[in-house]
This record gives sequence, structure tokens and C-alpha cells, in this order.
Amino acid sequence: MPATAKLIPIIKVPDPVLRKVATSVAEITDGTRQLLDDMAATMYDAPGIGLAAPQVNISQRIIVMDCGKDENPELFKMINPEIISQSDVLSVLEEGCLSIPDQTADVERPAEVEVRYLDENGKSQSLFATGLLAACVQHEIDHLNGVLFVDHISRLKRDMILRRVMKEMRQSASSN
Ligand code: NI
Repeated sequence: MPATAKLIPIIKVPDPVLRKVATSVAEITDGTRQLLDDMAATMYDAPGIGLAAPQVNISQRIIVMDCGKDENPELFKMINPEIISQSDVLSVLEEGCLSIPDQTADVERPAEVEVRYLDENGKSQSLFATGLLAACVQHEIDHLNGVLFVDHISRLKRDMILRRVMKEMRQSASSN
């Protein structure tokens, strides 16, 4: 991580910022690039494989991801990412979220997606993603639309996960 990157506190459910539709970035500035570096540092520190700006209380269309292996990191920094095509074939992967600590569920999504986005220099880029990367980029773009992975599972399972996470957060707050 760049020497100047700083860690940002991660917002947890039920904070309303996680349910807002984030706004597009109109101009990419040094501040945007700093935010991307800070988000990447925060993601690696957590540790996690993806982080969206609303998760650090900034309601802008910005995400970072790294689904690479430890010995082979592959950091993506995306501004205004958009899914431009998706496969009819679906796949199921176990997902978690830094904003819903210690909970996971199987989520079904398109197995392959193509994403268009701006890089940190404002250049248009595209990514064809499969496997874990495809699930991750869809999960992060969902965050920009106020959608969480638990919205893709049954109401019964969603309520169970959210109840459990609230209970654990209450317990850790009262033991501090
Ligand atoms: Ni998440």
C-alpha cells in the first residue's frame, strides 16, 4: 500500500448509507485516487476481497477488489462500474460482506459478466469476469445500488443472518 494510505472505519448494517443509491463520480481528482488507495488498504487490512465506497460512508460509485491469490495479487480500482452483459448461466458461491461481519450464505448470480468502468486516470476499461471475480464484482456493484448479498437469499435466511449479526454487535459493544 502507498505510504500515505490510511485505514477507514467500515460501516456495518443497519446503517442507512448501505441502502442508498450511490452517485456517479463526475470528476476524478487526486482526492478520488487517495480514496481508492485508502479503500484498498482498508480492504487488505480487514481482510476482504472487495470494498465499495458506501461501506466507508462515502455514497459514490467507487469500488476496489482483489480476488487474486496472496502470491499473485490482482487489485482492481473501479469508478462508475456498470455491468454491460451477463451470462444466462448462473452459479452459486458462498458470499460474505465486511458490513455483515462473520456471516455467509450461498448466493446465485450470473456466472459471467462484462463490466465497463473508469480507471483512476479516467480511462474507460472493461473486464470480463468469471468465477469468484464475477461474483465479487456483482456483489460490489450491488453495494452502489443499496443492495446487500442477503437480499439475494430467502427472507427467512436473511432475517436469521441479520438478527444474528445485530446480536453479536450488541454483545461486543457491551463487552468493550
Ligand atoms: Ni459487501
